[in-house]
Amino acid sequence: MKIDKNIELAKTPPSSFYTSESIFKKNKSTFENSYQFVCHQTELIKSTSIPINLFKDWLDIPLLITKENDDIFCLSNVCTHRGNILCDKKDHKNKLVCNYHGRSFNLNGSINHAPGFKKTKNFPSKDDSINKNINLINWNGLLFVNAGRNKSILKALNEINEMVKWYPFEKISYDKSASKTYTIGAHWALYCENYLEGFHISYVHEGLSSDIDNKSYQTVLLEHAVLQVAKSQNKTDSLCEIGEINNIALNEVYALYFWLFPNIMINFYKWGISVNIIEPLEKEKTRIKFISLPIKGYKQSFGETNSVDHIELEDQKVVINVQNGIKSKFYDRGRYSAEYEKGTHHFHRIISRYL
Ligand code: FES
Ligand SMILES: [Fe+2]
Repeated sequence: MKIDKNIELAKTPPSSFYTSESIFKKNKSTFENSYQFVCHQTELIKSTSIPINLFKDWLDIPLLITKENDDIFCLSNVCTHRGNILCDKKDHKNKLVCNYHGRSFNLNGSINHAPGFKKTKNFPSKDDSINKNINLINWNGLLFVNAGRNKSILKALNEINEMVKWYPFEKISYDKSASKTYTIGAHWALYCENYLEGFHISYVHEGLSSDIDNKSYQTVLLEHAVLQVAKSQNKTDSLCEIGEINNIALNEVYALYFWLFPNIMINFYKWGISVNIIEPLEKEKTRIKFISLPIKGYKQSFGETNSVDHIELEDQKVVINVQNGIKSKFYDRGRYSAEYEKGTHHFHRIISRYL
């Protein structure tokens, strides 16, 4: 797929990008090799092990996040004996015991005890550990793992870190009751594209539109990432009293919307952070996870026309409409608005490198 570098000349991806089964399959390795958000560190206060099925119902990579003293590990959640899944729910014990033949592991992944293996030669070896050196990073309390090898997100996370140093990360925690999961009948990239432009806000989001100053909307391109900044209409809604980001005073900023290639969104609001994970399931089926990380003393609001859940439903409706539209024999490629669609163009340029 070729997307012209110059947005003024470029055309959007051909509809085959969204409709072809073979192109969808090609995306697999992009996801397999990417860093993915798995949980917030506050989830490890009461638990010592959390099973994660990375890309459930698609790539299905069974992992386990464990904590031993102050060390956090990402392990394979598969017993090294005959391949049984070790844990199916959060636990707080200090050993991981396989319920098939009783082998147990320490929280760092090494074998603790293996009944019936006294006569087995050269056992245990390092292959018998469930610690497979899977990359894990703790970014301000948000845990990301990479079951593959693409490290490009690390540069983006460093860059973002410099921009949000003032954020009270130490006061945020995971709120299960405010976190939600949706499944929609649309291609994952259509969802990301919609997120990457503020162009549609005044047409699609009436409530949000009255909170933010649309004229001041800014898109900043980062390496493998995009930042969108919206100013508030009203200073009482602003993110922070002091400081600035990209020459915009933070006391005028309503929200910061960061997207990380290919499928992670980290949104900073006055009340806390919302992380959105866009998981492909099928070519026309996508799971969207909304993880709510409020600041102590604040709560994410629901049910109002400007709240995250309301805006989400407005977005889903339009994304599904586009999914139906791109299948028409009378549609193939569109053009970009050079003023408002820099973020979407940047995404298409990056994804085209992997296809
Ligand atoms: S599969 Fe785990 S002990 Fe046999
Ligand atoms: Fe939107």
